[in-house]
Formats: sequence, structure tokens, C-alpha cells
Amino acid sequence: MRAGTWIVTGGAGFIASNFVRLALEEGWCERVIVFDLLTYAGRLENLAPMIEADPRLVFVRGDIADGEAVEELLDSHPADMVFNFAAESHVDRSIHDAAPFVRTNVLGTQLLVSASRRHGVRRYIQVSTDEVYGALPLDGEERFHEERPYAPKSPYAASKAGADFLVLAAHHTHGQNVIVTNCSNNYGPYQFPEKLIPLMIMNALNGRKLPVYGDGLYVRDWIHVEDHCRAVRACAIDGQAGETYCIGADNEQPNINVIRRILELTGRDETLIEYVKDRPGHDRRYAIDSSKVHREIGWKPAISWEDGLASTVEWYRKNTAWLESVTKGDFGAYYERHYGGK
Ligand code: NAD
Ligand code: TYD
Repeated sequence: MRAGTWIVTGGAGFIASNFVRLALEEGWCERVIVFDLLTYAGRLENLAPMIEADPRLVFVRGDIADGEAVEELLDSHPADMVFNFAAESHVDRSIHDAAPFVRTNVLGTQLLVSASRRHGVRRYIQVSTDEVYGALPLDGEERFHEERPYAPKSPYAASKAGADFLVLAAHHTHGQNVIVTNCSNNYGPYQFPEKLIPLMIMNALNGRKLPVYGDGLYVRDWIHVEDHCRAVRACAIDGQAGETYCIGADNEQPNINVIRRILELTGRDETLIEYVKDRPGHDRRYAIDSSKVHREIGWKPAISWEDGLASTVEWYRKNTAWLESVTKGDFGAYYERHYGGK
């Protein structure tokens, strides 16, 4: 074990690249080893300019579902903590083909958690989602919390649930020091524009149609990515081994309200809204009760929805080169296939 070295898998993706940036800017640890396969969602641009300029950051390209690569990673980079952010993360893609979700999210997690144990990693942190709890009805006060049984509905959520169970089983069976965090929907800079908020911002900026699934009244509980990253760090430092922590910012929004606000912030009107075919098995509502993490860890969100969404729109407006770069290749074909280029 090397104190101060953190391995961050999926570090070239949306959330973990924000995590790595904050970790380096604020000195959360001495060294960060990013391990990332660079799938369509993983972009070295997300780590610029740190990747060229900061000697505390080491990038290793590799697959968490490749046992030999994971062994080599932990042999050559003894680490104090492993943060597993790597995943296939988009529900729509999991509906079209669940196989990569099972491979990366389930098998990859099992290989990584087992190798972390063998290599004496002090603590393993599994970054998971509130979607493992299933869906809530639209009307009602009920929210997801740590005691609620898992009931995943999409192949993505099922694969993340399987991963969480394997991590918690490693604690129960082997006494491994693990933490699981289950966070609600994130938004912010560097999010790949297949997810609701960056897709709508990109389309609005380009004067393209905004595809609203079904009636647009599905509810998500949005948190700014920096708040999520700070919560993961806080749980890693102050959490109890074998515990799970639900993370959210008390910010439930129907999709159509999010879209209308993006239209206002981009100076577009509602003629861009286009209702399209619903997602099969679409989860109606997610909502998180994060009182455990407030009470036991002392973490609270700091970024308001109003400021967070406005600064996110501004970030996408300024970073058109990033948008162009990440939407080349696979994404272009995917987008044409699913949205007919609208
Ligand atoms: P993302 O799709 O933007 O990034 C995933 C990253 O993982 C990419 O860099 C990709 O290259 C990498 N990756 C994929 N397969 C890999 C493999 N086999 N080996 C190594 N690297 C691989 O995802 P995100 O939105 O940043 O989500 C990060 C994590 O947070 C995921 O585990 C996700 O389930 C979880 N999460 C996401 C949200 C959200 O709203 N986006 C909310 C809660 C939890
Ligand atoms: P998404 O960002 O894919 O996150 P998740 O499904 O994991 O919550 O979608 C957020 C919500 O937005 C969800 O209810 C589906 C909806 N949605 C649309 O209406 N249109 C779109 O083009 C996309 C990508 C999502």
C-alpha cells in the first residue's frame, strides 16, 4: 500500500474527470492513477490540461474487465484507495445491448474488488447509482434510502445492482474495507451529450430539436457533479466499512421543466421541443433521501440548481471545440440511428 495514492477507474469519463480535477486542485491525495479503457464516453480531453502538466497524475489505459490488466495496474501502482467510477452508464444503450454493461459493470467490478483485496488496498469505493432502487410513483412523498431493497428495472440499473452486491459481499465474506455510494442524476461540465442535460443544451445551442421521451413528466433528482464528487470523497474518508450512502441534493425536476429552463438559458423558444417515442420500461421518478450522509458524514450539497444549470449551459456554450471533438465517431452514428439526426 502506498499512502496518498488513489486509483480512479473511469477517470476519463464525466464524473471521475471532475473528481480527478478537484482532487488535484485541492490536494485531496498525493497521486492519482487514472485507469480507463477510453470507450466512446472516455476522453483524454476531459483530463486536459492536467494530463500533460501535472506530474501527480498518471494515466493508464486499460479494461477493468481484463483480469491481467487489473493485476498489472495494482502491481505497478500500489494504492491506498481504489475508486471505481468505470462503467457503461447510459440506460438507452443498455436497452439496445446489455452485454457490455454486464461485462464492465459486473465482471469488471468483481475483478477490481478482488484484486484490491489481494493487493492490500486499504479501502475500495464503489460509485453507484440510485437507479438500483428501481422507480417511484409520481405522486407521493416516498424517496430512496439505504434500507430500501434493491429493485433495478433497466439493464443498466441491474448491472450496477449486481456490482454493488458483489462489493458488499466482499465485506461480508472477507471483511474487506469497502464503501458503496448511490447517487442521483448528475449534471455539469464534461458530461457526454447523450444524457438529457448536455444533449438538450447542445441541441438548443445548435437550433436542433429537443427529443422529449413520452409525456416529459418523468422526474429526476439532479445534483451538480462537483457536489457528488465532494460527497464521494467525504464518504471515502469518513464512511464506515461495509456501509452504503445515498447522495442527492433534494432537487426533483420533471424533465419538461429542465428542458424549458435550458431553452430560456440558451435564448431559444419552445418550438424546438419534440415529443418522441417513450423509452421502454422508463422509470417514472427517482428521489433520494440523503439524511444518512448529512448525519453521519456531515456532507451537504453547496451548488444550487439555478446557479449550477446556468454555469453548465455557459460551460457548453464556451466549449464548442470539446463538444465537436466528443461527438465525432461512434456518437455521430448512434445519434443518427436513435434520433434520426433531429
Ligand atoms: P461516463 O460514461 O461518462 O464515464 C465512464 C468512464 O468509464 C469512461 O471514461 C469510460 O471510458 C470508462 N470505462 C467504461 N468501461 C470501462 C472498462 N471496461 N474499463 C475501464 N474503463 C472503462 O459515466 P459517468 O456518468 O461519469 O458515471 C461514472 C460512474 O458514476 C458510473 O459508475 C455510474 O454508474 C455512476 N453514476 C453516474 C450518475 C450520472 O448521473 N451520470 C449518477 C450516479 C452514479
Ligand atoms: P438520462 O440522462 O438518460 O438519465 P437516466 O435515464 O439515467 O435518468 O435521462 C434523464 C431523463 O430524461 C429520463 O427520464 C429520460 C429523459 N430523456 C429524454 O426525455 N430525452 C432524451 O433525449 C434523453 C437522453 C433522456
